[in-house]
Amino acid sequence: MDTIFVKGSSRNSRILVGETMDKLPEYMPGNHVFIITDKNVYDIYETSFPRFPVYTLKPGEATKTPDSAIDICRWLMDNGGGRDAFILGIGGGMVCDMAGFVASVFMRGVAFGFVATSLLAQVDASLGGKNGVNLDGYKNIIGTFNQPQFVLCDTTMLHSLPADELKNGLAEAVKHTLIADKQMFQHILNHAGEILALDEALINKLVRHSIEVKSAIVGRDETEAGERRKLNLGHTWGHAVEKTDGIAHGQAVSIGLSFAAKLSEKKQMLSAGDRITINELLHSLNLPTETDTDPRQIFRALVRDKKKEGDHIHFVLMNGIGQVTVEPLSLSELDDFIQTI
Ligand code: GLY
Repeated sequence: MDTIFVKGSSRNSRILVGETMDKLPEYMPGNHVFIITDKNVYDIYETSFPRFPVYTLKPGEATKTPDSAIDICRWLMDNGGGRDAFILGIGGGMVCDMAGFVASVFMRGVAFGFVATSLLAQVDASLGGKNGVNLDGYKNIIGTFNQPQFVLCDTTMLHSLPADELKNGLAEAVKHTLIADKQMFQHILNHAGEILALDEALINKLVRHSIEVKSAIVGRDETEAGERRKLNLGHTWGHAVEKTDGIAHGQAVSIGLSFAAKLSEKKQMLSAGDRITINELLHSLNLPTETDTDPRQIFRALVRDKKKEGDHIHFVLMNGIGQVTVEPLSLSELDDFIQTI
């Protein structure tokens, strides 16, 4: 088991990689604990949960609303939750977001921790201290920056994940290597098959690596004033593809990473060879690099999404594998580029 520390403004957080859920009592109080989970996780793992009251959410992003958060606060009150409550989120990104948000606002904030059950949650969504709920279909409009006391990443739980869910996490893990670590990129390329087969040592290494990259960046820029924007690599285009195609986040991010590589090559920052290798790696993990949707339609979705930012957006470009830079990019330059692909 490895422990990685994240420095946050609200508190420091411990990420426990390769720790098992039965060790939870070592990390949290012995009473006043309230568990938030979703139905999928509950059905598989309920018998391993610590014996505390459980609130079970309907799975899926549509549940992440202010109304659900208020329902949970009511449930906490009905069950005697007070200032000394400890909220334990057991689940993927949605559950961690909800649990972190409720813990941040209930009684003006109570302590909380997560058991991250999906690969996406372990390599990305449970880390970083951002939490929030959606408003009228717009993502994370109401939220806070607040670090959990701990995030427990039990990688044995990944065996119960559907293949698509696994891909969501793999795309974010590849993103972290593209941002910061060429060697790890190569390592994934060399071992893609074993990673897909969930080889325990490789998966633990991959999860630990992602956590190290993200925690280091968040530790330097928790509130995304600068460097944290690097973590949006692949996401500007990816989010737009997610909207137009309605595909899973990881697949859209993978297409977004490939797009960012193509644009970086066009701007003579990335070699054609590196771009091809990036696509190779994504394919070796069964991740897509293209969509049949007209790029102009994706561009329109991107503009709708980014309209608050004016006519320039912060775009994360690659200067090679393992190195990125955030540059202001005008929407008209992006539009011109799109006409060429
Ligand atoms: N909790 C997700 C993040 O902070 O990025």
